[in-house]
Amino acid sequence: MNKGLHSVREKSLVFIGFMGVGKTTVAQLVAKKLYRDFIDIDQEIEKEFGMPTTEIFKKIGEAAFREKEKEYVLHYCKQPLKVISLGGGAFMQEDIRNACLDHSIVFYLDISWDSWKERLHMLVDSRPVLQNRSIDDIETLFNERKTLYEDHNSKLVTDNFNEEEVADYIIDSVKLAWDLYS
Ligand code: S3P
Repeated sequence: MNKGLHSVREKSLVFIGFMGVGKTTVAQLVAKKLYRDFIDIDQEIEKEFGMPTTEIFKKIGEAAFREKEKEYVLHYCKQPLKVISLGGGAFMQEDIRNACLDHSIVFYLDISWDSWKERLHMLVDSRPVLQNRSIDDIETLFNERKTLYEDHNSKLVTDNFNEEEVADYIIDSVKLAWDLYS
């Protein structure tokens, strides 16, 4: 557990999980409650390109987005005392998975397919990866991604909890890790 440059108490917390599971909101709450900086990797990429993700995918291409995603994640996950929300596709890249698992504490926010599909209509406009795909294709993607997210330090199935409850659970679990491993 204590790999990387920083002590367990200082390690950054990284949130992974499928699009729309609530990573950004939960990470923001956790950052606030722990007095840490919050970093949203998608927002960093959007700031750099000066356009929303859908436009980046259309005008510059997914490959350029993924390259920037790797650059930002590899940079921030090695910094101490951050709370970082990753895009749902970031863990497809082995370098990202390895860096996060070596240098930070990785929380997987999981959700059942049945709960997630209720959210699809709110997500599709801002998530290029969901556009022009049938519901069956999206379910396949959902299940493929689940396999990647299995590389984590801690996991919570969020179906029956609101974001505040998830954040509080994460904080309790972080504090337990601090006590156990420092
Ligand atoms: C993506 C997820 C998005 C964003 C981009 C690609 C993906 O982030 O990075 O649209 O491939 O799953 P969220 O998980 O925050 O929606």
